[in-house]
Amino acid sequence: MKIGIDFGTSFSLPAALINNNPALLLSGGQYGVPSVFYYDRRQDILIGKPAENRGKFRPENVVRNIKMDISNPNKKNFRLDGKTFGKKQIVGRILGEIKQLALEEIERKQLISQKIDGAVISVPAAFTLRELNFIRDAAQDEAALKVLGFIREPVAAAISYFNAPSAKDEKTILVYDLGGGTCDVAIVRSDKNSKEWYKVIDSDMKRIGGRDWDKLLGELIKRKCREQNSDIKFDLRTENKILAAAINAKHNLSRQEIFISDIEIEDELYDIEITRREFEKITSELLQETMRMVDKLKDNCAGKIDYIVCVGGSSNMPQVRRAFEKNYPDIEIKLFEPEKAIAFGAAIYAEHLTEENFLHDICKFSYGAKYVQNFAKYRDYKRFRIYNLIYKGDALPTSGESISYHIDSGATSTYIEIYESECTEDIYLPEEGTYIGEIEIRGLKNSKRGDETILKMTIDKSGLMQLKAIDTRTKNSADVEIQLEEY
Ligand SMILES: Nc1ncnc2c1ncn2[C@@H]1O[C@H](COP(=O)(O)OP(=O)(O)OP(=O)(O)O)[C@@H](O)[C@H]1O
Ligand SMILES: [Mg+2]
Repeated sequence: MKIGIDFGTSFSLPAALINNNPALLLSGGQYGVPSVFYYDRRQDILIGKPAENRGKFRPENVVRNIKMDISNPNKKNFRLDGKTFGKKQIVGRILGEIKQLALEEIERKQLISQKIDGAVISVPAAFTLRELNFIRDAAQDEAALKVLGFIREPVAAAISYFNAPSAKDEKTILVYDLGGGTCDVAIVRSDKNSKEWYKVIDSDMKRIGGRDWDKLLGELIKRKCREQNSDIKFDLRTENKILAAAINAKHNLSRQEIFISDIEIEDELYDIEITRREFEKITSELLQETMRMVDKLKDNCAGKIDYIVCVGGSSNMPQVRRAFEKNYPDIEIKLFEPEKAIAFGAAIYAEHLTEENFLHDICKFSYGAKYVQNFAKYRDYKRFRIYNLIYKGDALPTSGESISYHIDSGATSTYIEIYESECTEDIYLPEEGTYIGEIEIRGLKNSKRGDETILKMTIDKSGLMQLKAIDTRTKNSADVEIQLEEY
């Protein structure tokens, strides 16, 4: 069976199509597994709820929000109770736990297919090639979970929305997904009469999510504690307690206007009273930043938007709906399965992955190769330029080709550096993009100055890259997996 996995910053969920309907593969009405990793020498590794529970007492042994650290070069390894864990291992163990829980549920439900053939994993709208490859390798190497493909989170939510019995065809929706770590937006059109069933018009992402609201609320709680005791000290344990109190307060403030509670720090009780108005005031800039992204996407979209569909746990905050009502009074706003929509969409997509016309997404970045500009003056290395082969906004899958020439005779191998960027010009300077890795064609014999190397680059439907390089005279070729720079 093929499954969909919503690998979230705060919660992860597996889902599958059962009798053609999407269903979570979790027992006992659980709505997600905390994406939390814990280790100590006695308990060994714990994932999810047990990690969360144990971590309350030993916060120094916990890793949270790992999805947001995949691209953080300052966080390569984590040292927990004397043992070092790599990021890939942590992501892999979380995905492995999700796979295991899904298998248990498949067995419990006595579904016909008892094994998992692979998964479609949802990812934020603008995760980079390196982040996608990282997640794929973590799943495959650490969890023996084959990744069939990726889908952008708001696009998965859109598919899930259109798949619901009440949804109407031939509509264009704007999906706003405010999760724990990112805010993702996409404009998606559904038209089952056309060649493209689901067509992504545009999408974007910001690394803003519920955890940023939590941080600000935590700061407010600390200020309130300090007002009651100016000598109060916050160590890792109390910081953690405050974060938990902030999350609890935030959830309560989605239902009620005022939150009143006591918090115990170092045997002292502190009175905490927070109004919704106060909470919304300190977090309004975060919300506005996400709304500016919505405005930009909507302004660039020529067609009419029929609905705004809000998903993601943080869309439960009343401030989200209010902002949309104020900014777009003419568009109907729907809160749709905030916790489940993305996993459901990934599960639906997993079943339709091989159908060419099911989903048309667009490339989120441009990809180019580094060559010397003006071959005759090659010794001037300042003349390196990036030549784009694939452009941001191209419909997926997409491919491009370029030719480079040997600078000297006698080379035994060719290296080509690959860059990722937002640049849509044909040629740009290296510093405007990001070096992501290189490929190599080895074993060249008797190569001459001026020999041609053709590079073919493809970005598949999932946003992953395939490369083929051919040295045209020697016919040496390389079907190469790009050696990506590790974060
Ligand atoms: N009722 C609620 N009110 C406010 N916030 C909520 C509520 N329910 C959930 N949240 C918040 O939603 C966030 C989790 O949402 P979700 O599960 O969609 O995120 P995620 O998928 O883990 O993260 P991401 O998609 O950004 O990687 C958390 O920050 C959580 O505190
Ligand atoms: Mg999410």
